[in-house]
Amino acid sequence: MELYEGIISRRSVRRFRTKEVSQDIIDNLLKAAMHAPSAANEMPWEFVVVRDVEALKKVAELHPYAQMAADAPLGVLVCGNLAQEKLSGNWVLDCSAATQNLLLAAHAKGVGGCWCGVYPEADRVDIFKKLFSVPDGVIPFSFVVLGYPLEEVKQTERFDASRIHLEKWTS
Ligand SMILES: Cc1cc2nc3c(=O)[nH]c(=O)nc-3n(C[C@H](O)[C@H](O)[C@H](O)COP(=O)(O)O)c2cc1C
Repeated sequence: MELYEGIISRRSVRRFRTKEVSQDIIDNLLKAAMHAPSAANEMPWEFVVVRDVEALKKVAELHPYAQMAADAPLGVLVCGNLAQEKLSGNWVLDCSAATQNLLLAAHAKGVGGCWCGVYPEADRVDIFKKLFSVPDGVIPFSFVVLGYPLEEVKQTERFDASRIHLEKWTS
């Protein structure tokens, strides 16, 4: 898939086939995530790969907007490791870029995914820390639910010329 076409056609996928995602593809996705840009190249990310059905069901039960995890073959918890940070607060931006890279790489490989927000909701951060034994100093950031799509989610037109301001702000 061509990169630009992939960016434009990616949509959140919330219904999955039961087909497993191979370790080879999981490695590809994590590699793409780790190739994201980061502030001062600090790369503060850590990833918990979750294939355990019971754990995925628990995520669906405890996260208010991640019901799709109950029927997914795979989830990846993206975390920020504060010990890796060089520029305070930038781990959030770095983990956002890693999450998006992971989603785009999944799309390129025919795997659908949905970014389920964890940080900055304190109760969700707490839930994921406990659920996946995340140590102190490492903060759960996003839970990406993944699997082969059960249906095609159509792309929508989002280009909005009114959001573009030439040389200075124009209203
Ligand atoms: C920070 C963030 C948190 C999100 N959290 C959730 C979530 O908890 N559950 C969910 O189903 N989708 C979640 N999404 C996905 C958005 O709902 C989705 O990206 C948006 O509606 C646009 O649709 P698209 O991804 O198909 O383009 C989240 C997306 C972002 C960027």
